[in-house]
Amino acid sequence: MRIESPLVLAALADLGVERHPGASLADLTSLGIGGTTDVLRVGQHRRLPALIRLLHSEGIEHRFLGGGTNVLIADGELPWVVLQLLSPQPDVSIEGATVWVDAAADLGRTVTTCAKQNLGGMEGLIGVPGSVGGALRMNAGAYGTEIGKFVREVEVYRAARGENETLRGGELSFDYRHTSFATADIMLRARLELPARPYQEIIAGIRVCNEKRRASQPLNQKSAGCIFKNPPGGSAGRMIDGLGLKGFRMGGAMVSDRHANFFVNAGGATCGDMLGLIAEVRTRVRAAHGCELEEEVILWNA
Ligand code: EPU
Repeated sequence: MRIESPLVLAALADLGVERHPGASLADLTSLGIGGTTDVLRVGQHRRLPALIRLLHSEGIEHRFLGGGTNVLIADGELPWVVLQLLSPQPDVSIEGATVWVDAAADLGRTVTTCAKQNLGGMEGLIGVPGSVGGALRMNAGAYGTEIGKFVREVEVYRAARGENETLRGGELSFDYRHTSFATADIMLRARLELPARPYQEIIAGIRVCNEKRRASQPLNQKSAGCIFKNPPGGSAGRMIDGLGLKGFRMGGAMVSDRHANFFVNAGGATCGDMLGLIAEVRTRVRAAHGCELEEEVILWNA
């Protein structure tokens, strides 16, 4: 979608919004799949409610994109614009065991910034690609650590009220790859409390996680991490692997030959290729195991 109205363009400029007309979302996602649209980047959280009101009043649909590492986006010209937050610098500030981090901050860099201040706990998250906001929304987890455990407060754009709000305590819940945020809420900033640990100990933990990840995941290929959630008590990767599907391809989309729950863009994959592969693998797992796999990756295909 292209914004062409001079009035809207002037209003965007007044709000300090950076506009990237006709940007390719394939360039903004780790899967390297996605069509084109206007991307609007917002530097100040307080401007977001006015921006969304403006888009709404003009009948312009929007989607919010974080780091782009867990999303599968349709091809072609997209019927909505994309919003992204620009990260203020510094995007992490630390006081004692309290960490304030901007949603646009890179998750891995946040883990190492905290480590340098002798704050640990998040070692397992080191290789999870993406932004802190995306990690909050999905309750990202790896190697026994989930981010939700450390979250005390989150500032969000609350879509239902059209305002920025701070959520705490019982207003927040984090479960396996699921949180209490509404789909249209936008993460802005979080307050984390982390356990104090010596830097050397944290770095040793980070090294172990990096090695495990390198040994089992296709880090050099374009993917969105795991495609399916693990079913309760089971492993999607093990089931898919057990069906001999590593290397199975539909067009440019392929089940990784390293980790069967990673589907990679092996070259020129379209959204249709990836959706076809997801559907086929789901059907085969259902037939063999009677288990309905649910996507972990977020689909922007409608
Ligand atoms: N396995 C296979 N074949 C495969 C892949 C895995 O047999 O092709 C077996 C492994 O040998 C192991 C079991 O399945 O016995 C589980 O595999 P793994 O330890 O790789 O963990 P996972 O459950 O497949 C989860 C997360 C990953 C996270 C890792 C490490 C989900 C859906 N995935 O994978 O997160 O990095 O644990 O903690 O929860 C993601 O969310 O995108 C993601 C990559």
